[in-house]
Amino acid sequence: MEIRVTGEDADSYEEVMLIYQAALRQMETKLAVLNEEFRMVHKYNPIEHITSRVKKSESIAKKLRRHGYDVTLENMVKYCNDIAGVRVICSFTSDIYRIADMISNQSDIRVLAIKDYIASPKPSGYRSYHMIVMIPVYLSDRIIDTKAEIQIRTIAMDFWASLEHKIQYKFVGDAPEHITRELRECAEMVTALDERMLELNTEIQKYSAL
Ligand code: GTP
Ligand code: MG
Repeated sequence: MEIRVTGEDADSYEEVMLIYQAALRQMETKLAVLNEEFRMVHKYNPIEHITSRVKKSESIAKKLRRHGYDVTLENMVKYCNDIAGVRVICSFTSDIYRIADMISNQSDIRVLAIKDYIASPKPSGYRSYHMIVMIPVYLSDRIIDTKAEIQIRTIAMDFWASLEHKIQYKFVGDAPEHITRELRECAEMVTALDERMLELNTEIQKYSAL
């Protein structure tokens, strides 16, 4: 079967969105399988839960304009990496890297970019592990290579990110200095909490191995 890239020729917007939706379903299934297998081998779930979404057309258009591109189907596929987005929430930081490795090792997934905001947090205090991947979607007569963004983070990192997002939304990205500072302090507390929870879990694992 012929392999193509999404939107390579004049697909309709609906068709392109259907392909992104299919890419998300495949990613979710892959992650669910990895979680099940991991649970069987190691006796715990590395994945707490998974959410996914296809980016709304208004958000896609806004992002393209922000980066100075015309709002076309071609530009959207080329420049918008997060039309299909999966968020994987784990219990422990170590699970994040395990899951990222397991995804990278799958032969039909190609990793295009990695942003490790855990090793290098954003100035806001944001921590999360991001991957942009290419995943094949099988249609009746062709295979379409499709981009998806995977964000992997702990429950604590996710808790922080959702509050920070709400605050930035409320202040249209211009929050008062003391709130921004408080948020950065909370991010440090989240990091410390994640570390302690991981240490505790490692300790508990030793007991259960007896
Ligand atoms: P976007 O244009 O926002 O998609 O950013 P980008 O293409 O430069 O990629 P980046 O990896 O920086 O961010 C991708 C996504 O991560 C965003 O759409 C958010 O969902 C999330 N994100 C990045 N930075 C922050 C942050 O400071 N706070 C929160 N809450 N989320 C963030
Ligand atoms: Mg985004």
